Amino acid sequence: MNDLIFRQVRILDGSGGAEFIGDVGVSDGRINEVGTVTQGLAAKGREIRAPGSILCPGLIDTHAHDDGAFFRHPGMQFKLSQGVTTVVSGNCGFSAIPADPSKDSVAASGGILAGLEGEFTDLDGYYAAALARKPAINNMMLVGHNTVRSLVMGDNKGIPSDSEMQQMQQHVSHALAQGACGFSSGLIYRPGRYSDTAEVTELAKMAAPFDALYTTHMRNEGDRLLEAVEESLQIARDSGVHLHISHHKAAGKSNWGKVRESLQRVDAALSAGQPVTLDVYPYTAGSGRMIEYFNLDRVSEELAGVVRIASCKAFRHYEGRMLVDIAAAENTSLTDLVIKILTAPFGDRTLCIHFIIDEADVETNLAHADMMVGSDGIPDLRGKPHPRLFGTFPRVLGYYVRERGVLSLPEAVRRMTSLSAKTFGLSERGEIKPGYWADLLLFKPDEVIDQATYDEPKTEAAGIDMVVVNGQVALEAGQHLGVGGGQMLRYRRAPFGHSV
Ligand code: ZN
Ligand code: CU
Repeated sequence: MNDLIFRQVRILDGSGGAEFIGDVGVSDGRINEVGTVTQGLAAKGREIRAPGSILCPGLIDTHAHDDGAFFRHPGMQFKLSQGVTTVVSGNCGFSAIPADPSKDSVAASGGILAGLEGEFTDLDGYYAAALARKPAINNMMLVGHNTVRSLVMGDNKGIPSDSEMQQMQQHVSHALAQGACGFSSGLIYRPGRYSDTAEVTELAKMAAPFDALYTTHMRNEGDRLLEAVEESLQIARDSGVHLHISHHKAAGKSNWGKVRESLQRVDAALSAGQPVTLDVYPYTAGSGRMIEYFNLDRVSEELAGVVRIASCKAFRHYEGRMLVDIAAAENTSLTDLVIKILTAPFGDRTLCIHFIIDEADVETNLAHADMMVGSDGIPDLRGKPHPRLFGTFPRVLGYYVRERGVLSLPEAVRRMTSLSAKTFGLSERGEIKPGYWADLLLFKPDEVIDQATYDEPKTEAAGIDMVVVNGQVALEAGQHLGVGGGQMLRYRRAPFGHSV
């Protein structure tokens, strides 16, 4: 018997193949029948007719910072409303685990992981605590270098001693044994930037026995992008793991266009047999913790000129404004303004948005066959967050597929579902296939579009009919139903708490 039957919908099964019209039956959290449904509808079952709409697997956000959001915002409305049913958290070297409950859980990450609370120390503990809050969507985790390093070495800028290296390796290995999908680094951030290639390689090696990933926010995404790509490829080769390059971009006007060369290096590695994948967010601005981008002894006014304040506890009235406008209004220099913000109480937690990417590079990235989509959204709902938090996936479907024609709809769906699920070890997800978990998205292909803007970033997308998570309808016609059916996932294994 089916609990849910979708009748005569246009099906894109996630494989990249052409759409076909048919029925899909869902039973006990899983996809039961595809194409023709032969079994009946259970007594409390529901039949859904949506002629013209597309049914595809739930979308996968391969680049999330939702570790804390699962505690603070378990409804995950900013992801669910986009059709996202699974996120990969713990990116850029910042992960909720490992943790020492006696220490400040967000010391290393600043505002990025805000919301974490609880007595957990490892992945099992984090997963149990997150599940208890009945999350709306599924979560997979990476274990982050910055977190591990600050736990073991504090602010130490030196190279790790043998015993520190051993402790860090044990933390990484323990998280992978409990089901994390890989080891992430954020080598522009503190303390990751203090580490050399050898340190990262020795830690990435822990992923090899699990055939898991090394994901990286590379050491440089601007003037030295190509060197950073080489370093990433080298680390992955020497440690024997799959490389995933996060939010691939060429930052700063003088570097625009370099993503072509960078992708050529990736292609060369791929043809030499090295496994490499990437993700991108579909915007020309980045976002992160402001203090990481400025040297207070020598403030770059070029960068300050393209920065906008997202959230700022020290000066709430700066939120949503460009630094140039604030400086003009206050009759001060960009340098003095940056110093004033970052040295104020809590100023180091300021999140900013910086317009550093070329639109043509976004399209070059999206055209690459191994490019997935990751929002890189920072789930701080105060202030004016980057619109990618609410808009990333509908923007790809509506703008880059429908309006710009950069990639086809079946291909975009493949890159946001089956490719991501295979790469990140999301077992039995990412395709509409009998036996797979029923994570599904029903949307109107002619209407789907992001509506979040830099001025109104918390606006939900249009054209999303229904989102199903593990067989339960979680969102319908803009209504969040609060069913809390998300699971905590383990790499190539059954979800946490499930034996099959
Ligand atoms: Zn990053
Ligand atoms: Cu990130």
